[in-house]
Amino acid sequence: MDDNNYITGLQGMGGTGKTTLATQVGKELQKLKFFDHVVDTTVSYTPKIETIQDDIAGPLGLQLKNYNESERPKQLWSRLRNNEEKILVILDDVWGPIDFEKIGIPSEGDHNGCRVLLTTRYVHVCNSMGCERGKIIQLDLLSDEDSWTLFQKHAGISDHPPKHLLQKGREIVKECQGLPVAIAAIASTLKGQQSREKWDVTLKSLKKPMPMHGVDKDMTRFYKCLRYAYDDMKDEKTKELFLLCSVFHEDEEISTEILTRYSVAMGIFGEVEDKYDDFRSQVVVAKNELVDSCLLLKNAVGSAKMHDLVREAAQWIANNKIQVVKLFNNYHLKERRILDICHAKERAWISFLATLTLPSLRF
Ligand SMILES: Nc1ncnc2c1ncn2[C@@H]1O[C@H](COP(=O)(O)OP(=O)(O)O)[C@@H](O)[C@H]1O
Ligand SMILES: [Mg+2]
Repeated sequence: MDDNNYITGLQGMGGTGKTTLATQVGKELQKLKFFDHVVDTTVSYTPKIETIQDDIAGPLGLQLKNYNESERPKQLWSRLRNNEEKILVILDDVWGPIDFEKIGIPSEGDHNGCRVLLTTRYVHVCNSMGCERGKIIQLDLLSDEDSWTLFQKHAGISDHPPKHLLQKGREIVKECQGLPVAIAAIASTLKGQQSREKWDVTLKSLKKPMPMHGVDKDMTRFYKCLRYAYDDMKDEKTKELFLLCSVFHEDEEISTEILTRYSVAMGIFGEVEDKYDDFRSQVVVAKNELVDSCLLLKNAVGSAKMHDLVREAAQWIANNKIQVVKLFNNYHLKERRILDICHAKERAWISFLATLTLPSLRF
């Protein structure tokens, strides 16, 4: 990012590693003292101006809560344009053009030491935000060798694995088509698995045709990988928790407390007579299992996030389950819960339940 380069776009399909790369680049640039501050915020599909402003202002020591709507952008703008400091603003996961003026981010011609790095799935977003050709970095799917390195890391296999594992592993990696999020999820299912049969079964399952109604043709392989990782989980409660996580909004922080309340409301971990702490512990165990399976991302202490591509796949899995339930017209309690999860799109009732202090529980 040279001095003439105000805004840079990092573009690539979902799950290619944009967020990971932008975060690492930010850390490196700060360490190398290219910037005095690096701040980042997730813009997401439905941007919340106030949250974006607070995410940027907070780490710069600027409190905006006492300012009204029209003052907030002005304050932020002055802070970011501070002549003395170089500031990098990372806008992650941008889906459409965003109004810098409304937020308080300086514009191209008048930015002093402020620079912007945005990540997006779409080239047209980069263009409309003023990242001209040359300032757009395209992140492709991983090469075969990089895919293998990532697979090795997550599957915990050495540089010199037994010949049969090496051969099967290479074939399995090919099925993930270079998408980090799929490689990590599949590799995690094979961690510590030495038996040749397990690797055979995995490869066969990934190669087997599967009906993929409603899935974009380019995405079928990836959904298949994530579906396999889901099916491979042994614990039914963990699987239900995984589907439950997909009803949270895109990029929403999933706190253990809220997740515990929802799980209690859904009856995932048993009857409400049990103590809250017992439920909470079960949720933490299941959540950690999902993190180890690379199906959930660990965030700040006690909270997690679901990657948007994994979330889409989870909703697709949940939807398929509804179809099966409908087909057999057999509404068992468990299926009905899954049905409820999916139908809770607006989540009004679930939010309501979350506000309740259940009498037999110690919140
Ligand atoms: N370079 C990388 N090395 C290791 N893991 C990676 C890399 N890039 C991505 N990943 C893995 O893939 C997942 C998806 O990456 P992410 O940065 O969230 O993608 P995107 O923002 O493009 O959707 C991450 O959780 C991470 O585990
Ligand atoms: Mg991302």
